[in-house]
Amino acid sequence: MEFNSSAVSGKTQVYCLIGDPVDHSLSPAIQNTAFRSAGMDAVYVPFRVRRKELKDAIRGLRAIGVRGFNVTTPHKSHVMRHLDKLDPTAREIGSVNTVVASENGMLTGYNTDGIGAVKALQDAGAPLNKTALLFGAGGASRAIAHALARHSKSIRLVNRTQSKARELERRLRRKYRIDVSHHALLRTRLRNLIEEADIIINGSAMGMDGRADLPIEENWLNRDQWVMDIVYRPPETRLLNLAGLAGARTLNGLDMLVSQGACSFELWTGRAAVIAEMRHAVARESLAFAHAKNS
Ligand SMILES: NC(=O)c1ccc[n+]([C@@H]2O[C@H](COP(=O)([O-])OP(=O)(O)OC[C@H]3O[C@@H](n4cnc5c(N)ncnc54)[C@H](OP(=O)(O)O)[C@@H]3O)[C@@H](O)[C@H]2O)c1
Repeated sequence: MEFNSSAVSGKTQVYCLIGDPVDHSLSPAIQNTAFRSAGMDAVYVPFRVRRKELKDAIRGLRAIGVRGFNVTTPHKSHVMRHLDKLDPTAREIGSVNTVVASENGMLTGYNTDGIGAVKALQDAGAPLNKTALLFGAGGASRAIAHALARHSKSIRLVNRTQSKARELERRLRRKYRIDVSHHALLRTRLRNLIEEADIIINGSAMGMDGRADLPIEENWLNRDQWVMDIVYRPPETRLLNLAGLAGARTLNGLDMLVSQGACSFELWTGRAAVIAEMRHAVARESLAFAHAKNS
């Protein structure tokens, strides 16, 4: 990533990412490209913050006056108790990935994973007002479920741990009064659910490097469907590969990563992000990461 260190001065606004690990994060490429494209004197830096240092790290970020920061694993829920205000949806989801610092230093937590995923689908032309099947009930899936619930006719939830899917179903039904149900992650039950869905989203970690894959088959998918996988390592998962073979329209985890990053940028700056350039930067970084891993 090109970076002009001589352009940084005492007036440069600082934004950052906190998490552990952060060394392979694509967010610096996304956000520094967004700042550069917007002609802003701002920089975005990743910081490794261990669990036991989270409280001190937040105090430090307040003290030095960062303008905003992203939060990633393992701090997305623990960070909430150290903030001054929470967006109601972030509170409901129990997960914050974006923090905005106001002029007077007040820290407000948001979650852009859900709106980012839904925006990526909308921008691609997916019909959101139909039936969606969502795999996962972790932080990202909960965020996506809440964002989808504002548009979908029905949502089917599938998760390895059924109690988490049941709890998500209960919350969605109470808040949005939509048709929502949860189902076991069982190969024998999945075929019908997949065939009946208009939009299929993998919001779980299945298919991620080194993890188990979704137990599905190519002939369960069809060309009228939209399939999104939020896993971005690898960018082309088995699910997306099967969806492509079936002729379905696909979005990958990098599409969502850019979209949720654009939502963070907009919360921090009040400006629209230049998505095309951010996408280009993230594709370049992701390729460099894959080359480094394979060499
Ligand atoms: N593209 C993006 O912008 C973006 C943003 C956020 C996250 N992500 C990716 O999304 C994935 C989930 O992130 P998260 O923050 O939601 O994580 P999380 O809170 O830890 O949730 C993980 C989810 O994956 C399921 N899971 C994990 N391993 C599994 C396995 N072997 N078999 C079946 N289910 C399994 C979990 O099921 P249980 O409930 O049964 O444990 C849970 O539903 C990760 O790959 C992450 O990198 C992408």
